Amino acid sequence: MRILVTGSAGFIGFHVARRLLEQGHEVTGLDGFTPYYDRALKLRRHEILAEYSGYAGHDVLLEDAETLASLYGKGFDEVFHFAAQAGVRYSLENPKSYIDANITGTYNLLELMRALPPRHALLASTSSVYGANAKIPFREIDRADHPLTLYAATKKSTEEMAHAYSHLFGIPITMLRFFTVYGPWSRPDMAPIKFAAALFDGRPIDIYNYGKMRRDFTFVGDLAEAIVLLAGKAPPRPGADGSGLPDIDSLSPVAPWRVVNIGAERPVELMEFVKTLEASTGRVAKCNFMEMQPGDVPVTYADTSLLSALTGFKPTTPLADGVAAFVAWYREYYRV
Ligand SMILES: NC(=O)c1ccc[n+]([C@@H]2O[C@H](COP(=O)([O-])OP(=O)(O)OC[C@H]3O[C@@H](n4cnc5c(N)ncnc54)[C@H](O)[C@@H]3O)[C@@H](O)[C@H]2O)c1
Repeated sequence: MRILVTGSAGFIGFHVARRLLEQGHEVTGLDGFTPYYDRALKLRRHEILAEYSGYAGHDVLLEDAETLASLYGKGFDEVFHFAAQAGVRYSLENPKSYIDANITGTYNLLELMRALPPRHALLASTSSVYGANAKIPFREIDRADHPLTLYAATKKSTEEMAHAYSHLFGIPITMLRFFTVYGPWSRPDMAPIKFAAALFDGRPIDIYNYGKMRRDFTFVGDLAEAIVLLAGKAPPRPGADGSGLPDIDSLSPVAPWRVVNIGAERPVELMEFVKTLEASTGRVAKCNFMEMQPGDVPVTYADTSLLSALTGFKPTTPLADGVAAFVAWYREYYRV
């Protein structure tokens, strides 16, 4: 199959692209290598993908509609869209980058899919869209219309833009809501790397909301497995045989579009994550307890009934194993 992966030099795009290449697919990777975090890490991920003969990587910004169109060419069998301005806190510092990458960038891609629809497009969204929703665990059919940050607002907008294109032009689209992903090749702006760096440097770890936070930490290997399995489950047209799963399905009543949570379904206290990291590194953390950060939520917790009904799969990697894999990679990559 011919597959387009946007954000292929990013944390999640890299893992998914590698898995698709291992399955023998032809993968075109696109990434703008934005300066949000260490470009060297993105370049290294791309170098690893380039070792596969089925891979062609391109340095392209989603906002550059003309170059994007020439890369899209005659279209793809499947499109995986991970490129985005990610990060909750940075959306308070540089809001415009979220509008450019997430809104304009996703719109440019949708326009290309309108002309030449793939068999299935899978677009990354986030648990942040649940925003002020206090009902846990989060289900795809719960309301998610009170975003707490511009990051969440732009990601929710991409879900809605995708729904409109799916409806108007018949593009089968699955929106993927990820929950705090961790593992080898992680993003340096996220807690696991920030915690590990502080531990190895002997610096205190900043713990927000005095540690009273729970995150549904999801191991990246489980996430990639779930995404690849979901690729084979393009949402049916409404009314088609077998469409819709009673009670839990987010399938649109009018379009081949649905949203699926991918999380561990096991929220972990921040201090449990720190203790697991301590056990894996053999270091003892000094903690700097801080207030809740603007836009943060106290808990994320995925209900993954829909994922398992569609694919028969649930993330199962125990936290200790996932953290050990992360620490092994961190030691090797950062030579500590
Ligand atoms: N990592 C998580 O825990 C998490 C959680 C929820 C949602 N997500 C979503 O998953 C997706 C992937 O996240 P990630 O953690 O791999 O982030 P990442 O920042 O590592 O990857 C995103 C990639 O997109 C590229 N990019 C950014 N803006 C671009 C643009 N305008 N044009 C072209 N390329 C651009 C970046 O260079 C980067 O390599 C994102 O859509 C993010 O919002 C991630």
